[in-house]
Amino acid sequence: MGESFDRLMEDARVLAETRLESFFPGEGLQEAMRYSLMAGGKRIRPILAMKFCEAAGGKPEEALDFGCGVEMLHTYSLIHDDLPCMDNDDLRRGKPTSHKMFGECTATLAGDALQAAAFQTVLSARGPWLGEGKTAPLAAGRVLAQAAGEAGMCGGQYLDTVGDGQPHTAEELTEINDKKTGALLRAACLMGVIASSGRRAVDVSCTDAAREYAANLGRAFQIRDDILDATSTAEVLGKNVGSDRSNRKTTYVTLLGTEECERRVEAYTSRAKSALDAGNWQGSTAFLRELADRLARRQN
Ligand code: IPE
Ligand code: IPE
Ligand code: MG
Ligand code: MG
Ligand code: MG
Repeated sequence: MGESFDRLMEDARVLAETRLESFFPGEGLQEAMRYSLMAGGKRIRPILAMKFCEAAGGKPEEALDFGCGVEMLHTYSLIHDDLPCMDNDDLRRGKPTSHKMFGECTATLAGDALQAAAFQTVLSARGPWLGEGKTAPLAAGRVLAQAAGEAGMCGGQYLDTVGDGQPHTAEELTEINDKKTGALLRAACLMGVIASSGRRAVDVSCTDAAREYAANLGRAFQIRDDILDATSTAEVLGKNVGSDRSNRKTTYVTLLGTEECERRVEAYTSRAKSALDAGNWQGSTAFLRELADRLARRQN
């Protein structure tokens, strides 16, 4: 896809960015929520939601608020992940972390409020949802709740934190990563497919393919994140490097070394792409394939 991928990626990112900008214009706690939300993340999750919606036969805009909901929830997870009681980091998305700017109390509350706003946004989303498709916001909210909670991101963060400094096997690490990182990426993809349901009944082969793509993408994504933590610079990454080392975390890098990690990123990426073959898609999946390749090579 090359050049056209870059243009489509930028268009989708701007769409997400513009919509996100409209949410928290106020002062006080809203200022802290906006600070982290608008600090310039990659917006991978809303982009995934929109592109899966398109592949399943909907229009990208129909998944926009679902995607914004996931991005709010993701941003809350980052604010809390950076707190002194968790990873204790002071740089995020190229700026001082929320607790460095506003103090721990406001940072905690900004995260809490972004989580609530995520569900409000998903459940209030407007779209062409009639007939059976009318329950799309409810179905998307259920997917997000499952991904955010004990069975997903929070459960993964719990295992990651209580296990600090303890040796993990690669299998245990994979379970942690599937929850702390994979769950929200999977939710984004599935919510995209759900958003297409106002136009046509969702084909179960698409839901299954989206789930399988996301599972593999999530594994590649967190291994790449661990590689970058060990090898990048704060200027390029926009967050502290060596954070895992200073927290004495066992990561794939410490268990297997960088070379084996690179090999696994490639293997999971290739599995993510082939998973799409099994879906009975209405639109093209070329963008989603290229996205997996780009994320495998990402520098931040
Ligand atoms: C960072 O996620 C945290 C992980 C799940 C590894 P991203 O790499 O998507 O962070 P942003 O949203 O671009 O800042
Ligand atoms: C945590 O993983 C992912 C979240 C659920 C926030 P990391 O702790 O490795 O994420 P970064 O490197 O701080 O973004
Ligand atoms: Mg962490
Ligand atoms: Mg962290
Ligand atoms: Mg990391």
